[in-house]
Amino acid sequence: MCGIVGYVGERRADRVLLNGLRKLEYRGYDSAGIATLVDGEIQIRRAVGKLDNLEEALGDVGLVGGIGIGHTRWATHGRPSEQNAHPHRSGDVVLIHNGIIENYVELREELAGDGYEIISETDTEVISHLIHRQLERGEPGGLFEATRAVLSLLTGSYAMVVMTSREPGVLVTAKNSTPVVLGVGDGESFIASDIPALLEYTRDVLFLEDGELARIEGGKIEVTTFDGTPVDREPRRVSWDPVTAQKGGYKHFLLKEIHEQPQAIIDTMRGRVAQDTADVVLPELDALGDRLGGIEKMCIVACGTAWHSALVGKFIMERFARMPTEVDYGSEFRYRDPLVDEKTLLIVVSQSGETADTLAALEAAQKRGAPVLAICNVVDSSIARKADAVLYTHAGPEISVASTKAFTTQLTALYLLGLHLGRRTGKIDKDLEAECIQAIVEIPRLVEQILQDTEEAIAKDSRLFSQTDDFLYLGRGINYPIALEGALKLKEISYIHAEGYPAGEMKHGPIALIDEFMPVVVLIPRDEVYGKTLSNLKEVESRGGRIIAITDGADDELRSIAESVIEIPQTSTSLMPLLLAIPLQLLAYYVAVERGTDVDQPRNLAKSVTVE
Ligand code: F6R
Repeated sequence: MCGIVGYVGERRADRVLLNGLRKLEYRGYDSAGIATLVDGEIQIRRAVGKLDNLEEALGDVGLVGGIGIGHTRWATHGRPSEQNAHPHRSGDVVLIHNGIIENYVELREELAGDGYEIISETDTEVISHLIHRQLERGEPGGLFEATRAVLSLLTGSYAMVVMTSREPGVLVTAKNSTPVVLGVGDGESFIASDIPALLEYTRDVLFLEDGELARIEGGKIEVTTFDGTPVDREPRRVSWDPVTAQKGGYKHFLLKEIHEQPQAIIDTMRGRVAQDTADVVLPELDALGDRLGGIEKMCIVACGTAWHSALVGKFIMERFARMPTEVDYGSEFRYRDPLVDEKTLLIVVSQSGETADTLAALEAAQKRGAPVLAICNVVDSSIARKADAVLYTHAGPEISVASTKAFTTQLTALYLLGLHLGRRTGKIDKDLEAECIQAIVEIPRLVEQILQDTEEAIAKDSRLFSQTDDFLYLGRGINYPIALEGALKLKEISYIHAEGYPAGEMKHGPIALIDEFMPVVVLIPRDEVYGKTLSNLKEVESRGGRIIAITDGADDELRSIAESVIEIPQTSTSLMPLLLAIPLQLLAYYVAVERGTDVDQPRNLAKSVTVE
């Protein structure tokens, strides 16, 4: 997820662009760059790392000129380097892009055949060459028509802005799946990924929809669909204050990230699920070569929330790939002289890719000859670089310290891996495979539905329960790790003591804690153990415990014993963790808000734990 900005008007473009990029830095800070037109010449400055480095590179002189584009990068294709930083240039064409061009490999080959030299490792650079090639071929409609023609060659997601010294006052922008918002000024126009970048200059904004592009010259904005049909859309006035708007209108990054999950899951599945052949395609595993064929067991290692993904991963691998799978904490693994060798696939799961304990476990396993696959969110992080193969989650930058969208995208990646390995080893039950492939593509829509249908009720519930000292979370089977994750989320951001237990274990100890002050959150989907979990709840009820039930189908009995019932949609029982996680995140969030804690930066915690 990157940030893009564009400006055309009477002001100094470089200042407007830098200002805008500051507001978008949450979208990524691997590198940044701007390009402006100075006396008809394209000038570019780029720098690796945060925006401060770009500002330093610009110095006091900056890049004068009244038209320009700017970018802050969250690396997906190609490591963070100046060469891979945007803007990308092809002759007199310069371009910025947010998204992923899936067919860039074929396009690179085609362009190389036409004599274009590809300089970066990015998927983006090809677009600038394609537009340049179209202009060189004598495109009569100029930059706008050249861009429109090139869009038909691209597969993937993009928000892009392009500029050429052939048409010095013109910017062209296009959108497919990633956001573009236009700011309407008096004789000037602005382009950005998100409203905060515009607010200092204008509150009149116009959102591009998927499949639309715009030609912008001074204050004149012309929008069409990709097929050239003119779009007549009036700008609308936004009333956000700039500080709230940095969080896209949400009060906290955490809530924003909870709401970003449908898109993050889509992005993690993009290009990997072939519905026509009911297959999961993971070319990333090719990096393991023949070693994958000799695997006899798996071991998944992670910390914190990622460790909860790993626990779900054990169920997935054993159910789909029928392969014995153990799970360990990063901080414990290397101290137990683990029984791993070249026949063990070690899977490390990490959002940041920098967690020291997980990294140490990876190195310990590699020393023993085990091939290592990383499931990781941050491109080119230490774990991603050291692993033998990487399956990236595409959650985008997670700013809030408590992990939410990283968790559900890790689960998504583990499901894809389990389905892929199940097919590869021929061990997966065919009906289960068909059911899960069909169900997984529906998950983003169902997550969206849960967010819409349950948030208000959960916010209300949180007022009832926010002043208690302890919470118990119960789940069974593949959903037990979700109970652990729900308890961790609550602990982290509300500072309430919470524990997760397998529901059937309660009678072996924790039941002693239950009284009329103890909220018990139970995950009780309509699976094969529904009746058994209901019996466990009866034990809670008869001791006065207060039950909050999360289910995809409550019967009268459950309704009669639970103080609150949160209904979620149905899916395959194997995929339930992806849905059950969402109400628990919302519950933790709203309890924390009630208690007035620092939701995004809870005490004592850090986003990336790089010490042992
Ligand atoms: C909890 C949380 C932490 C991390 C853990 C591992 O909300 O964020 O428990 O999950 O520190 O971090 P990564 O995934 O970066 O290795």
